[in-house]
Amino acid sequence: MAELLLTDGVVTLRPWERADAAEIVECIDGDPEITRWLDQVPQPYRTKDALAYIRGVGESAFAVLDSETGRVLGSIGVRFSDAGDVGEIGYWLRADARGRGAITRALRVVSAWAFGRGTVERLQLRADVENVPSRRAAEKAGFQLEGVLRNVYWNARLGRRQDWALYSLLQDELT
Ligand SMILES: CC(C)(COP(=O)(O)OP(=O)(O)OC[C@H]1O[C@@H](n2cnc3c(N)ncnc32)[C@H](O)[C@@H]1OP(=O)(O)O)[C@@H](O)C(=O)NCCC(=O)NCCS
Repeated sequence: MAELLLTDGVVTLRPWERADAAEIVECIDGDPEITRWLDQVPQPYRTKDALAYIRGVGESAFAVLDSETGRVLGSIGVRFSDAGDVGEIGYWLRADARGRGAITRALRVVSAWAFGRGTVERLQLRADVENVPSRRAAEKAGFQLEGVLRNVYWNARLGRRQDWALYSLLQDELT
């Protein structure tokens, strides 16, 4: 079967491969923002963690590449509900790829792909209320703020409970 490639011409998304493990480690290990906001991601982050991740995510998490150079910029994935009608999106970028709109682009591309599967009625994502870049990227891609899940989760790395902004996107809202 041909490899799934999704692109808007600037970023390209493709399924992770075992050969990407070293690159994932380079992106994640010790990164302060990923450490802080993604507390389920192990730190320090080693090759075995990357290989376990790649094995586990299958076809619904993608490497985000620079379309021109093929360089790995980050990751975006969708976790589908058992019924396949709701997808929850998560993402990160390597530090030197941030601030150029790449994740906003990847969000649009992955959302169009997810809705294109035919079963998805709703995409959602959660971001700490203080994670401004993540919230801005979601809003620029058309995600609507539904509300704040107050005091919802203990994040040991932050040493505090988190308030999560809950965003959702319906098919006709994709920008
Ligand atoms: C979240 C993340 C992927 C966003 O990547 P990014 O490259 O900054 O995203 P974009 O460039 O597409 O958009 C970021 C927006 O936030 C804005 N922004 C960034 N930092 C900001 C700040 N401190 N205050 C105000 N706005 C800010 C940018 O200006 C941009 O908006 P604009 O295009 O209107 O100017 C990246 O910061 C990251 O990997 N963080 C660590 C992991 C993480 O938090 N993942 C998400 C968990 S919910």
